[in-house]
Amino acid sequence: AGANVEAGKALFQKQCFSCHTVDKGGANKVGPNLWGIVDRPKASHAGFGYSSALTAKGGNWTYEDIDHLIFKPNAYVRGTKMAFAGLPKEQDRADVIAYLRTMADT
Ligand code: HEM
Repeated sequence: AGANVEAGKALFQKQCFSCHTVDKGGANKVGPNLWGIVDRPKASHAGFGYSSALTAKGGNWTYEDIDHLIFKPNAYVRGTKMAFAGLPKEQDRADVIAYLRTMADT
């Protein structure tokens, strides 16, 4: 039980890195850079062209919101540009979000 940052890092590299960098100052790719994504305002990363659907969400990315997004992106944000099937396993999502939390200014 509990979230595993190392497992989350490995999963990120396999499932997310094709579209997202996560290092500080990293480039936008198909998706926006995700440095400091937990608590970051939604659809706010400089230089990235977000969908109007995600832009309309508003607020900051909480743990729960990220959990919903990566479970089924198109269910959480109808019309999102994030063409990703999602992570069905709760443990996988918890691990990835735990890793994302480490990739931030403290
Ligand atoms: C957006 C996470 C996989 C493409 C986002 C956002 C998060 C996220 C948190 C919102 C960013 C923001 O508001 O600034 C993840 C995670 C992934 C993953 C954790 C792996 C589990 C992917 C993949 C792709 C992708 C594989 C490409 C096929 C995008 C795009 C957006 C986005 C295009 C912008 C969505 C929009 O404007 O509607 N992602 N993502 N992501 N992601 Fe991902």
